[in-house]
Amino acid sequence: QKLKLSLDQIEKGGYDHFMLKEIHEQPKAIIDTYRGRMLPNEGLIKMSGIDDNLNKFLNANRIIIIACGTSWHAGLVGEYLLEDMARIPVEVEYASEFRYRNPIITPNDVVIAISQSGETADTLAAIKLAKSKGAFVFGICNVVGSSIARETHAGAYTHAGPEIGVASTKAFTTQITVLTLISLKLAKAKGTMSDSAFRMYLQKMQLIPAKIEGLLKIDEKVKEIAAVYKDAKNCLYLGRGFNFPVALEGALKLKEISYIHAEGYPAAEMKHGPIALIDENMPIFVIATNKGHYEKVVSNIQEIKSRSGKIIAIVTEGDVQVREIADHVIEIPETEEALTPLLTTIPFQLLSYHVAVMLGKNVDQPRNLAKSVTVE
Ligand code: G6P
Repeated sequence: QKLKLSLDQIEKGGYDHFMLKEIHEQPKAIIDTYRGRMLPNEGLIKMSGIDDNLNKFLNANRIIIIACGTSWHAGLVGEYLLEDMARIPVEVEYASEFRYRNPIITPNDVVIAISQSGETADTLAAIKLAKSKGAFVFGICNVVGSSIARETHAGAYTHAGPEIGVASTKAFTTQITVLTLISLKLAKAKGTMSDSAFRMYLQKMQLIPAKIEGLLKIDEKVKEIAAVYKDAKNCLYLGRGFNFPVALEGALKLKEISYIHAEGYPAAEMKHGPIALIDENMPIFVIATNKGHYEKVVSNIQEIKSRSGKIIAIVTEGDVQVREIADHVIEIPETEEALTPLLTTIPFQLLSYHVAVMLGKNVDQPRNLAKSVTVE
């Protein structure tokens, strides 16, 4: 048989869509992002953009993270990481809100701007505003030489490689990787984390790519779940702590490419509104990994079940409690709680992908959306 491949197929590396290719590239993208920076054997993280400006970070009154879309979700994970590990107060802002609300910015603030493309107009304008008030601005971008990379005082690139699919996947996990490295590095420099804990995190971080590789193999199971819920009109995504932003990102992924209405919520906030929506037609995706407030999430799941909602739970390998009450469970490998977003996000990406494919949507170029939003 003659092997005929179109340019398009070659570009997609044998995958049907760029999004699926990029989902599968995550183990490598994460390794590329920490390679040369994270040195587990030496117990060291080297990042010149941080090393050269260490005092600015250590003396900062607070860190303000500005971003849009998926990058904003990564920023939220960054807030949990930085506050937990390095004990520096963090605020996360939508760039579009920040730039127009006359924010209080001082030269003692450090601003971290996160952008895959490095071209998002709102983020760029927010950076210029922060600079005009004397703040130090650090960029986390994927595109080398992009406007935001050039406009910031210093930065750290994610090394995700080109991301073509409009729905961001590997850019998100590599942004979280960079934020984890920064948090660990600052925690060590500030003495808010013991050397042994620091070394333990580096070891665990090094295991993440292989764990994602393993998770990508559960694709068939995720596909089965996608087939069951693809016709849902509304979905809810719940998570707590480090996984609250993952719930937001899970809902965004579904909305973007399948056009199903989905909302992400912190699990405990469910009782202040979304619980009213729950009936037997409502799929609810819950992140219930074994650390992070497990018992509380289990009771949230029970509340949903007693209202006949359908539960699809992301649990830690070997979980028994949630398995008994959930309609479906997806297991993720054990890791430190702070690192779980890098794993829990994978099944949500796959799920959105399969739902969109089953519904015949344009996965890589969803309607009304652009990869990079260079206008207001
Ligand atoms: C657009 C894209 C999103 C992205 C957001 C921010 O809306 O469709 O995927 O998260 O812009 O983009 P940035 O390049 O700044 O990360």
